[in-house]
Amino acid sequence: MKHKIIVTGGLGFIGSHTVVCLHEAGFEPIIIDNLSNSEASAMDGIEQLIGYKPIWANIDVNDKAALGNVIKEHQPQGVIHFAAFKAVGESVEKPLTYYRNNVGGLITLMEVLKEENIDNLVFSSSCTVYGEPDEIPVKESTQTKMAESPYGATKQIGEIILKDNANWLNTQCLRYFNPIGAHESGFIGELPIGVPNNLIPYLTQTVAGIRKELTVFGDDYNTTDGTCIRDYIHVMDLAEAHVFAINRLINGEQKEPFEVFNIGTGNGSSVLEVIQAFEKANGIPVPHKIGPRRAGDVIQVWAETTKVEHVLGWKAKRTLETMLKDAWNWQTKLS
Ligand code: WQD
Repeated sequence: MKHKIIVTGGLGFIGSHTVVCLHEAGFEPIIIDNLSNSEASAMDGIEQLIGYKPIWANIDVNDKAALGNVIKEHQPQGVIHFAAFKAVGESVEKPLTYYRNNVGGLITLMEVLKEENIDNLVFSSSCTVYGEPDEIPVKESTQTKMAESPYGATKQIGEIILKDNANWLNTQCLRYFNPIGAHESGFIGELPIGVPNNLIPYLTQTVAGIRKELTVFGDDYNTTDGTCIRDYIHVMDLAEAHVFAINRLINGEQKEPFEVFNIGTGNGSSVLEVIQAFEKANGIPVPHKIGPRRAGDVIQVWAETTKVEHVLGWKAKRTLETMLKDAWNWQTKLS
């Protein structure tokens, strides 16, 4: 009998890749997704990779009755909670939507887990909880600062709520850096709805001719080339980290009920460096121009990965070149 793992947001970018990795690790993934930031077509790609379509409940995690029915029916060994809105820039424009969906959804999920005595949760957090860090690279112990966006604030609040419930809930809190790329097959990948907020999908859509030109949001920051620096991580490396985390919980290996890990590569790349790396990896120019800064942007952040490597036993394996080749391969399959 396979352990069932519920994946909220399981048809999304990171969620769909994690569903594939969970299957490959011997779990039965159960998907909860209301398609608010994903497409049902992701299920076809998942099926091509794992040979079947996992059970999918098309419900909103804020719908407590429906969520309770799914959890009660499946009695999972654990839950991986991705379902949240995640665009930094958009959260500045729609703060209430972000607080309702991201914080409200987590609270509803936790209430149901408590009622059903499910006590293993992997939480999708973010490097945005560090705000504009004073120290680089950031450690898990780096003092978090006032988030630079409502999105980052929803993740900070989520961590506080989970810590305050450590008496009954075991949480693996994974602070993602910048997930990019796609499964090497090109069967699953990022499906931004509308105009992409994030750098890589906007970049690949520009190269594909869907967008006219990529705008670099500011080149007057205090960095090597004036553009913001991020820790870009292959979505498959990130997905694999979730299998490490759920195994740690199920095997009772966690040392604390609330454990936090930086899920990054430990390398920082500027926007211009990413553009140059894409052009080199794929041999195609990226039409781009410099534009004004974007509200909510952190200047630079990348991960210190000692803890995740030594405690969780996970390390990112894929290079920036691979990330950008896989991102372009996925885009060409979409076009
Ligand atoms: C990256 C850089 C932009 C678009 C993301 C996720 C968030 C969190 C952290 C997980 C910035 C620049 C972007 C464009 C640009 N991940 N940019 N032109 O804001 O770091 O946040 O990673 O939780 O969920 O959204 O990522 O890709 O939007 O921006 O110049 O058209 O690219 O200014 O410097 P961000 P991003």
